[in-house]
Amino acid sequence: MDRTVVMGGGALGMLLAGKLAAAGIPVRMWTRTREQALVVGERGIELEEGAERVKRVVRLEAAAFEEAAPAETDLVLVAIKQTAASDRTLRELDLKTGAGSAIVLFQNGIGHAERFAEALPGRRILVAVTTEGALRTGVASVRHTGSGTTWIGEWGDGSDEEAVARSAAEPRRAADLLEKAGFSAFVSNSIRERMLRKLLINAVINPLTALWRVPNGELPATPDRMAVMEALFRETLGILRKHGLKDGGERELWASVLEVCRATAANRSSMLQDVLAGRDTEIGALNGALCELAASVGMKAPWNAAVAALVKAI
Ligand code: PAF
Repeated sequence: MDRTVVMGGGALGMLLAGKLAAAGIPVRMWTRTREQALVVGERGIELEEGAERVKRVVRLEAAAFEEAAPAETDLVLVAIKQTAASDRTLRELDLKTGAGSAIVLFQNGIGHAERFAEALPGRRILVAVTTEGALRTGVASVRHTGSGTTWIGEWGDGSDEEAVARSAAEPRRAADLLEKAGFSAFVSNSIRERMLRKLLINAVINPLTALWRVPNGELPATPDRMAVMEALFRETLGILRKHGLKDGGERELWASVLEVCRATAANRSSMLQDVLAGRDTEIGALNGALCELAASVGMKAPWNAAVAALVKAI
């Protein structure tokens, strides 16, 4: 059987690869560093799950991305950060994936699907929007900090009937695979809308948790913090409305931001994890991108500009 490739050895990459392997699905993980590939290949991934934090070690194949042989699969789950998706990495991915393969993108923010589609002609670009929570606890260990939902949809607008029929088949295959691994996964035919909704949530939670160094649940803890969250939320919603976010009233969307804070209360957002580890953050693909979206329709985005500048300055 073809091995599914998971590209990325961060929290989400290890969670995906670990749970797929634990479900008996043949997986190969592509990591950024040779060191991580060696450790994963020798010892496997330690997966920690559930309220009791049960640990188990799962074995899988791993290779450093730069040295890896081309994928022997037509399904690649891309779980690298937007910051790691350099032009060089995309060129390399082009060489390592065959025509017709489905490439599933798990990145936060926006702008990545267009870049991957341009760099990988002839490949099926799928976008996954996930609320799974994961924390990297070591070079080959990950904690599943919260079970969420993953929506997968074909990128593009499927302009004829045949394309629409094809569109459903590939996301279905990817969603079925994740379901087999124990995730809750669905096909979406409005994936752009879901991306924009997630962007709205990330644009509020990620920079503020990173600046204040608090877990998600502590964001709405004081009236001062709530006031900043709301201001950033309103500005971001205004920008996204001009860029196609249709569904949901302001109240419902604000409630969804607070609900994510509640449901992931103990989690450190991915941006806080990056800041604490001294890594580059995704601020450019979140609030930075929002500033550009605002500018493109002549809007001002002072809150997004401020948090982008403050996070960059860390
Ligand atoms: O980026 C993240 O950490 C997550 O998308 C979210 C929803 C903010 C939860 O931590």
